[in-house]
Amino acid sequence: MHDIIELLDKKRELARLGGGQKRIDAQHKKGKLTARERIEMLLDEGTFEEWDMFVEHRCIDFGMENNKIPGDGVVTGYGMISGRLVFVFSQDFTVFGGALSEAHAEKICKIMDQAMKVGAPVIGLNDSGGARIQEGVASLGGYADVFQRNVMASGVIPQLSLIMGPCAGGAVYSPAMTDFIFMVKDSSYMFVTGPEVVKTVTHEDVTAEELGGAISHSTKSGVADMAFENDVEALLLMRRLYNYLPLNNREKPPVRKSGDPADRQEFSLDTLIPDNPNKAYDMKELITKTVDDGDFFELQPEYAKNMIIGFGRMQGQTVGFVANQPLVLAGCLDIKSSVKAARFVRFCDAFNIPVITFVDVPGFMPGTAQEYGGIIKHGAKLLYAYAECTVPKITLITRKAYGGAYDVMSSKHLRGDVNFAWPNAEIAVMGAKGAVEIIFREDKGDPEKIAAKEAEYKARFANPFVAGARGFIDDVIQPHETRKRICRSLVMLREKKIENPWRKHGNIPL
Ligand code: COA
Repeated sequence: MHDIIELLDKKRELARLGGGQKRIDAQHKKGKLTARERIEMLLDEGTFEEWDMFVEHRCIDFGMENNKIPGDGVVTGYGMISGRLVFVFSQDFTVFGGALSEAHAEKICKIMDQAMKVGAPVIGLNDSGGARIQEGVASLGGYADVFQRNVMASGVIPQLSLIMGPCAGGAVYSPAMTDFIFMVKDSSYMFVTGPEVVKTVTHEDVTAEELGGAISHSTKSGVADMAFENDVEALLLMRRLYNYLPLNNREKPPVRKSGDPADRQEFSLDTLIPDNPNKAYDMKELITKTVDDGDFFELQPEYAKNMIIGFGRMQGQTVGFVANQPLVLAGCLDIKSSVKAARFVRFCDAFNIPVITFVDVPGFMPGTAQEYGGIIKHGAKLLYAYAECTVPKITLITRKAYGGAYDVMSSKHLRGDVNFAWPNAEIAVMGAKGAVEIIFREDKGDPEKIAAKEAEYKARFANPFVAGARGFIDDVIQPHETRKRICRSLVMLREKKIENPWRKHGNIPL
C-alpha cells in the first residue's frame, strides 16, 4: 500500500511539473504565471479540486506516442471564489504550447458539462498555440465540441474568459462566445489569422500586439472587456467581477451587505448639469454617487466611451448600469455604443440583474459611416434588448432624451418599470433649434422671429412635464434624492415577474 501511495505522489508530482522546469522558467521569464499558479491566485486558498490530472493524448502520429505529458496541456477542476462554486480550466503553455488535442478538449467539455448540471460559472484561462497540429481534424472536432457547449451554456451559467497568452485561429471562438473577456497587456493576443498571413493577403505590416493585443481589443474591436498590466491584476479583477454574478440563471446575484444608507442624499448632484445645455459633464459622477459606497465596476471602459456599462450594488444587490456619456460624442448613440449596451442588457436580463439606465442622449450619430455601417440594424439591437428584457428596469433622464434615442433608452414604452426625470430634462423629438429650423423654415431669414419660435418651442417641449402629463415619466425627482428613489423602486420591484410569449427564439437583428 505504501508503495502505491508513493507512486501516486510521484505521478502527481510529474503532472504538476507540466512541460518541465525549463519551460516553466521560460513562462516566468515572459512575465506569465503557470497554469497552476493562475488557478491558485484565482480561487480561494486550498479550494481547488483537480480533475483528470492523468489524462493523456491518444495521438500516434509524428512520434507523439512517445511524447505524453499527464494532464495534456490543460488543468481542469472546480473550487471557490469568496466561498462560491466555480469551474475552471487553465491551459498550460509549457505542455505542447497549451495546444488543444482531442483529450484536452474532452477535459474542458467535462467540466463544462458538470458546471451546467450543478449550475455554476465556468472561467477559462486561455494560453494556447491553438489546435494540436499533430492531431489534425481530431483537434478541430475538439474545438467544435467546446463551442457547442459554450452556446448551450450561454444565458444558463456565466462564462468568463481570461486571455493570458496566444489565442489564435479557431481558438478565439470559444472565448468569443463567453460573457466577458479580460486580456493581459503585452503577453496575450487574439486573432483569426496572424501577422504573417495578414502580410501575405493584405500586405499590411502589423505586429501580433497591434493586430490582436489587449489594447487593440479593448479599445478598437471591443472583443475584450478590459486590459490588465499582468496576470495577477487580471486574476484579481476576475474574482471581483465574479462576485457580482449569480451562479446561474435560476438564482439571484449574491447580496453584499453595505453600510451605505439607502436614503443617502447627494446635494452635489443638484449642480451636476451645467446651465449651458451644450456643455458636457461626467455621467460617471452620477453613477458613483448613486451606487453603494461609490463602488462601480465599469466594463469596456476604453471602448465606445459614449456609452458607460458596468456593475454596482444598490443596498447590496447587484445592478447593471447603462448610461450615455455626454463627455464623449455628446453621448449620442452610434454603432459601437449600441452593440456594447445591447449585449450588456441581455447579459443582465439572462442573469436576473436589474438594469438602471441613465439617459442624456441627443440622438443617433449622423453620417455615411454610420449608415453604411448599419446603424439601423445595430441601433435596433439595443432597442430589441431593452424591449425583450424582463428584469426590473429603472430609467432616469438627466437631461436630453431626443427622438428615437428616447424610445430606445429603456423608455416607459419598452416596459420600463420606473421612469424618472430630473427637472431640467428635455424630452422631445429634437432640440429647439433643429425643430424650429424645420417647422418654421419660411422664417429662416428673420433671426428675431426664429429666436422667438425657439424660445416658444423650448418652453413648450424642452421639459419633462409633457411626458409626465402622459405618464411616460412616473415622477420628476430632485437630483439629490436619486439614490433614495432608485433604492425604493428596486425594493418594490424585487419580486417582479413577467414572461415573454413562448417561442423557439427571437430574431434579434444581427
Ligand atoms: N500544436 C502542437 N504544438 C504546438 C502548437 C500547436 N498548435 N503550438 C505550439 N506548439 C509547441 C511548440 O512546438 C513548442 O514545443 P517545444 O517546447 O517542444 O519546442 C511549444 O509548443 C512552444 O511553442 P513555441 O513556438 O516555442 O512558443 P512561442 O512563444 O515562440 O510561440 C506560438 C507561440 C503560438 C506563436 C507558436 O507556437 C505558433 O505559431 N504555434 C502554432 C499556431 C497555429 O498555427 N496553430 C494551429 C492553428 S489554430
